[in-house]
Parts: sequence; structure tokens; C-alpha cells
Amino acid sequence: MGTRYWRLFGRRSMMERDVLIEAQGASLVYRDGERAVYAVREVSLRVRPGEFVGIVGPSGSGKSSLLYLLSGLKLPTHGTVRYRGRCYTEASDAERSAMRRERFGFVFQQPYLLGYLTVLENVVVGAPDVRRYRERALWLLEQLGLGDKAHRYPSALSGGERQRACVARALLMEPEVIFADEPTAALDQQTGQHVLDLLEQHRGNGAVVLVTHDPLMLRYCDTVYRLRSGQVEAVESAPAKPLEHASTPPPTP
Ligand SMILES: Nc1ncnc2c1ncn2[C@@H]1O[C@H](COP(=O)(O)OP(=O)(O)OP(=O)(O)O)[C@@H](O)[C@H]1O
Ligand SMILES: [Mg+2]
Repeated sequence: MGTRYWRLFGRRSMMERDVLIEAQGASLVYRDGERAVYAVREVSLRVRPGEFVGIVGPSGSGKSSLLYLLSGLKLPTHGTVRYRGRCYTEASDAERSAMRRERFGFVFQQPYLLGYLTVLENVVVGAPDVRRYRERALWLLEQLGLGDKAHRYPSALSGGERQRACVARALLMEPEVIFADEPTAALDQQTGQHVLDLLEQHRGNGAVVLVTHDPLMLRYCDTVYRLRSGQVEAVESAPAKPLEHASTPPPTP
């Protein structure tokens, strides 16, 4: 961890070192005219280093909204959310975007790629040193079955291929936490499992917070939070299971 983060977050306690993300009574309220809509209601949870967290629930139950809160993309209306002890609400916009850029990887529910860049360029676009990360980007694309499409433009990809390109982009810099919002929604079962295998490999370096509708994907999770109407209805913990990996270790720049 660079000195910049020590300066940013100061001295950390033992407990903070064991917790990456912590939400305490966090709510996200949207205004719908006169009405207050609780997208997330008083959610408390912790994400620990190396943990694979699943978030499930019906459509509209607040899964994406909870991901926005946990990643600092949105600030809670009530309650607090912290990353390594640092409260998002107390951080400036610049500090929060630095955290997201340098520490987090995102796979949004809607795949978002820049249309004027190739797939490979889209994957490396956020890297500080593009040349250094090129080999890893190509390796990730290969792992995701896009090795021969790295030089295509997004308009020449299927929806599922775009989603996989977004997974490669999220994994590129080996971020501390990956937030993935239904990353396998547009994929067949086998391709979806490849994506989850890659995320699973990543958790050695950091944590994964996965929103999914697919019960098969939950076998990867250590802890599963079931949401209903913005509230945690149930928390399920699974014993860690060894999963088989066919691929070779990724190149590290
Ligand atoms: N900008 C907004 N303004 C008002 N209400 C919103 C807004 N965004 C989301 N909501 C509402 O908040 C609730 C939670 O939305 P959210 O997108 O988090 O659900 P979700 O569980 O991710 O659903 P899905 O599975 O369909 O993606 C829904 O009732 C939704 O209509
Ligand atoms: Mg959603």
C-alpha cells in the first residue's frame, strides 16, 4: 500500500485491517415526487479480505443500490459505509474517486465500453501504464474467450462478449475489491462459470462482491445476503470449497 493511502486513511486499528468494507445501518432513499423510496434500508454488513460475498434478491430489491453504497458511488442517506475505516461521507469526491480508481474494480449491470476504442484499448484505458498492462489484458481476454476479438470495436461484439470485456477491464489492475453486478446475466452457463472462476482466482488478492440471480453462482460465495425491499432478509454462510482451476496463473505486470 502506497504512502498516499497511509496519508489518506491514517493509522489503522487491528479491526480495520480485517475489514475492507463496512456498512452500518446504511440506507439509500430516492425521492419519487413526494414519496420517499427506500432502495436500501438499514443494511449492516462487513466484507473481509479474501471474502466472496453474494447479494441476491428479487428485481427491485436494492441489489445494485447496495453495490453503489458499498463502493462509494452513492452516499448513504442514513448510516455509514466505510472502506478500511474511512467513512465515504467524510471523504471528498476526489478522494472517493481515487479509491474507486485505484482500489476497486467494477462490472456494471449494463456493460459500458467506449465505442471508439477497441476491446483491448477499453480494457487498458484506465491503466497508468498501458504498455505494462497490455500482456495481462491480452491474457485476461484469452481466459474469457475473447483472445481473437481483442482488436474489434464493441459494436462488433455480442452482449455477452461485451460483458466479458468489462470483466477483463475490472480485473486488469488486480483491485482490492471487485464489485460485479450480474456479470453473468448475458452468458451461457459454461461461459458464466469461466467468469466466476476468474473472479474466484482474484479473491486471493482481494474481495469480490457479486450480485447475481443465478443460484449456481452462489456456490462461489462465502457469505450470501438475501435482500427484500431493500432489507437484508437472510444471511447465509457457506464453508469454503476448493474449486478446480484449469488455467495457468495470470501474468503480473
Ligand atoms: N434513481 C432512482 N429514483 C427512484 N427510485 C429508484 C432509482 N433507482 C432505483 N430506484 C428504485 O430503488 C429500488 C431498488 O433498485 P435497484 O436498482 O437497486 O434494484 P435491483 O435489486 O438491482 O433490481 P434488478 O434485479 O432489477 O437489477 C427499486 O424499487 C427502484 O425502482
Ligand atoms: Mg440491479
